[in-house]
Amino acid sequence: MIDESRVEAGALRATGVPAEQVLEEVRTLRAGDAPTHGGRLFAYVYDPAVPGLDELAAAAHRESAHVNGLDPTAFPSLLAMENALVGAAGRVLGAGPGTTAPDVVGSVTSGGTESLILAVKTARDAHPEITEPRIVVPSSAHAAFAKAAHYLRVALDVVPVSPETLRADPAAMAAAIRPETVLVACSAPSYAHGVVDPVTRIAAAAADAGVRCHVDACFGGWTLPYLRRLGEPVPPFDFAVPGVTSISVDLHKYAYAPKGVSVLLHRDAALRAPQYFAYADWPGYTMINPVIASTRSGGPIAAAYATVRHLGDEGYLRLSAITRDAVAGLADAVRAVDGLRLMAEPESTVVCFTATDDGPDLFVLVDELTARGWHTQPQLSYDGLPASVHLTVTAAVAPRVAEFGPDLTAAVAAARAAGPVRLPAELAALVGALTPEALTPDLVVGLAAGLGLGGGEGSDAGPLPERMALVNTLLDAAPSAMRERLLMEFVSLLQRPRWTPS
Ligand SMILES: Cc1ncc(COP(=O)(O)O)c(C=O)c1O
Repeated sequence: MIDESRVEAGALRATGVPAEQVLEEVRTLRAGDAPTHGGRLFAYVYDPAVPGLDELAAAAHRESAHVNGLDPTAFPSLLAMENALVGAAGRVLGAGPGTTAPDVVGSVTSGGTESLILAVKTARDAHPEITEPRIVVPSSAHAAFAKAAHYLRVALDVVPVSPETLRADPAAMAAAIRPETVLVACSAPSYAHGVVDPVTRIAAAAADAGVRCHVDACFGGWTLPYLRRLGEPVPPFDFAVPGVTSISVDLHKYAYAPKGVSVLLHRDAALRAPQYFAYADWPGYTMINPVIASTRSGGPIAAAYATVRHLGDEGYLRLSAITRDAVAGLADAVRAVDGLRLMAEPESTVVCFTATDDGPDLFVLVDELTARGWHTQPQLSYDGLPASVHLTVTAAVAPRVAEFGPDLTAAVAAARAAGPVRLPAELAALVGALTPEALTPDLVVGLAAGLGLGGGEGSDAGPLPERMALVNTLLDAAPSAMRERLLMEFVSLLQRPRWTPS
């Protein structure tokens, strides 16, 4: 029976928990996470390893956490910081006074996905006469474009990348443009392989067709200009390229700001206009939102402002040099190991490698690297491209590079000795035979248990097994619709309310 006199469940206790105890709980929970600092996690986090930077960002976040971006007239501090961040991003990306893009404007969003959804929405809403709008993207474009297309009911025309260069194929992209196309997009660089698409040719083709062209520079857009200044052969990709109408760049990636900040830039205010949503047809305040969220915390924006101001141009140049050297060191380590090959020569901040035909099982290798304290990101095989291992490299990796080579060699030897993971026959048969539609909740629970996924309330096990090779092998064997469905079901199993008070 529920005791109606007390409301308790999960985080809510009948009597409040003392502050220090709560913080201890958070620290204990955090101890189970992948390490955000220390240069051994090659995805999700961007660590410059600059002493005091975290503290500065946290202090700035604290100053503005309760400020609401909903109304810039009530909180001009936030408007000033946003405009300053947009100016900084514009300048890094070839815009501003004295450039060929003097009228660039922009908005601060919560992240790359929001920036891309808004870029697609803006392009779509610029053409209300097109009833079935479409966008053209290379197959290497970030999944957020597919999400945008899905949310906004825009058709997604995916053009395969060149299997040799892993870059978008400009001729094929041009050929994919139709009368209903509202946006052509490309990446600088792509997340999976870290290569820069041929933006000049793609933007020219889009301009010829009278279509907008978005450059997704969310990932490495803040670093590429600095790499160029350091002498690296970075191809043109920013507002200096005619035909580029919008660019996104995430400050929570290589601008090294804490999570929750990206910038979406448009070449001019007219191009940005359809991004806004305004609504006065209700009894409350007239809502005018430049971005998806309405209430927005000032915390992430203030933290990003503090980070960008503190690091400065010189700081970013220095961090880019450190990162470039770390990338070179990691790529050399991969080249030195028999059985591995780079997917592409690094041209930004990514090292991506795969196994040769006589090489180790890549998913076993990933587990062996994890066992040695290196958290890499496995990427499944896709459209003729082999499975690969992705390393996002940040400045914090530099001091670790010398340790990586010997550990990689040892991990490859261990993976070779262990041999490839073999899917149990019944699992292989199940995945081969199942369609997403045939996947019942019971089957998913059985599959998750068989793979050691889940944890769940009352269980001491984490959400993932220590070794992931079996899970990755199973997913790799499945077609993408099945991968999506399986992972959706697994994540949904993890997302369950906790009813017992902690
Ligand atoms: C190229 C690119 N675009 C967009 C995104 C999406 O960014 P977010 O995860 O901040 O939504 C990412 C994230 O890695 C990315 O690499």
